Amino acid sequence: MTHTIGVIPGDGTGPEVVREGLKVLEAVRAVEGFDVELVEFDLGGERYLRTGDTLPDDDLARLRQMDAIFLGAVGHPDVKPGILERDLLLRARFELDQYVNLRPIARYPGVQTLVPSHGEDDVNMVVVRENSEGLYSGAGGFHRKGTPHEVAVQESINTRHGVERIVRYAFALAMRPERRRKLTLVHKTNVLTFAGDLYQRVVNEVAADFPDVETDYVHVDACCIYFLDQPARFDVIVTDNMFGDIITDLGAMIQGGMGIAAGGNINPHGVSMFEPIGGTAPDHTGKGTINPLAAIGALQMLLRQLGEDMAAASVDRGIRHATSLMKGMRAGEMGFTTSEVGDLVVEGLAS
Ligand code: IPM
Ligand code: MN
Repeated sequence: MTHTIGVIPGDGTGPEVVREGLKVLEAVRAVEGFDVELVEFDLGGERYLRTGDTLPDDDLARLRQMDAIFLGAVGHPDVKPGILERDLLLRARFELDQYVNLRPIARYPGVQTLVPSHGEDDVNMVVVRENSEGLYSGAGGFHRKGTPHEVAVQESINTRHGVERIVRYAFALAMRPERRRKLTLVHKTNVLTFAGDLYQRVVNEVAADFPDVETDYVHVDACCIYFLDQPARFDVIVTDNMFGDIITDLGAMIQGGMGIAAGGNINPHGVSMFEPIGGTAPDHTGKGTINPLAAIGALQMLLRQLGEDMAAASVDRGIRHATSLMKGMRAGEMGFTTSEVGDLVVEGLAS
């Protein structure tokens, strides 16, 4: 069995963390006995500054041929904000119809967080973020731009089709053996009375097909309180694109920081793309101080999506081995270099 994996190292610390991910991939592949073909894509700020390309059609066509995509990070201090985000990252998510942004929020052994009252078992949830519409659709525009009467409209597009497919995905996830059969809708139904109403109605309807899943609703602002105060109440969260973006940064902090937070942009019927959810970390670039565990966690999710469950389980053991030996998880306080952390994971694969 050969898996063809597209690799986008990208910018900043992207290449450094991708290197560790690929080191782990090579080790686990050799043990589990499958083959990989790696196809590297030169995409990101460096290429944009060199050629003006963000995500050309032929690169996109080649990405479509991959079995999965492993992304480091994209973003560049010399590129105006918005260009790489919209024309590269969001374009890839949209064009490949990766409508699920799956972001597990879990504590690994030994990891310190900023919330001392949390026990290690309190934080164990997964956010299912809608990834193809909402405020991210790009709908809207300016009117009388640059004048005192300027109007800027940014619309949230929510389709029945889009809401239903993400809600169904979340319910199905809640039924998996490793989950606790509880689904919480996070939204702002008291103010966003159109979009929120559609989400709530769809959750109520789909719930009839999943009688074993308990459903709950929490406003997005209250969700932030509960992440700190009562995280154990959450198992699977389903939410829209913008709220999902925001709460998963807070989620990263209650699991130990951006250095450990992984995510997947998933098209259950197509090609999915996995990434550490932090950015390019310019402060760490080239210093060997960036934590590669988020990228290695993204690789673990990628392996699971490819059906390599044994390999994914082994990478999970490797990560746990690494975190239990690391003193603090916060940036620059790892006590190990980027490459040493990769080695610890490899060492722990068989533990
Ligand atoms: C994320 C990032 C992106 C998003 C940006 C870079 C477009 O913040 O993956 O969470 O908003 O989705
Ligand atoms: Mn984000």
